[in-house]
Amino acid sequence: MPDVLAVEARRLRYEVNDRVILDEVELAVSKGNSTAIVGPSGTGKTTLLMCLAGILKVKAGIVRIDGDELTSMKAAARAAVRLRRIGLIYQFGELLPELSPIDNVALPALLAGVRQRSAYGRSRHLLAELGVETLAEAPTAALSGGERQRVAVARALVTEPTVVLADEPTGSLDPVATDVVANLLFDLPKTHGCALVVVTHNDAVAVRADDVLRLGVKNNNVGVAG
Ligand SMILES: Nc1ncnc2c1ncn2[C@@H]1O[C@H](COP(=O)(O)OP(=O)(O)O)[C@@H](O)[C@H]1O
Ligand SMILES: [Mg+2]
Repeated sequence: MPDVLAVEARRLRYEVNDRVILDEVELAVSKGNSTAIVGPSGTGKTTLLMCLAGILKVKAGIVRIDGDELTSMKAAARAAVRLRRIGLIYQFGELLPELSPIDNVALPALLAGVRQRSAYGRSRHLLAELGVETLAEAPTAALSGGERQRVAVARALVTEPTVVLADEPTGSLDPVATDVVANLLFDLPKTHGCALVVVTHNDAVAVRADDVLRLGVKNNNVGVAG
């Protein structure tokens, strides 16, 4: 099978108020593979993920998702790619507290136009796969950090994305929950065929990735993964 690049960044540059945050960043991850992004705080890890997700507009360089050039698309097209082909996971398993866990998971699918019955069926299936099916209708605010993060993983997968981007997904978890969530995350490329990009400070998490991209303090880039 040819190596299909699910997410690709070429010579990426990002600036804020004329300050260079990312320069000449290169990243390439194929379906079924994972890359960890590591580096001290403030080196642009979150910024890079936001560029890959098409949330931030790059100064120069190219981002491709599944071969399509995200960086040349208008905002609405970028938003559509983000909704359907990118799953995002944040540090604290940010869920909407007013909605139940299963409503949180189903929401991106509903927004993407999946019919209600199918969206909820898929959501329940994912919650079961992630071991939190019994919490589907629990009050979201009562979930533990690890439980929230598992629901957040389900939400990231509900549109069957090409790429899952996770920003310090285990950053707020204890060692046991970190292990559980890391196991689930690194299984995803195999079980769901997506590419996984994980920002992490945790070496034990980073070594599990197929590649590591190290962002540096001095020149804010270096390192080629993929
Ligand atoms: N909107 C912004 N305005 C000004 N500076 C920003 C903005 N976003 C990020 N930065 C700066 O860019 C740098 C990289 O930030 P970030 O990507 O959050 O780093 P990391 O995730 O590696 O800790 C930091 O110095 C941060 O202060
Ligand atoms: Mg960050």
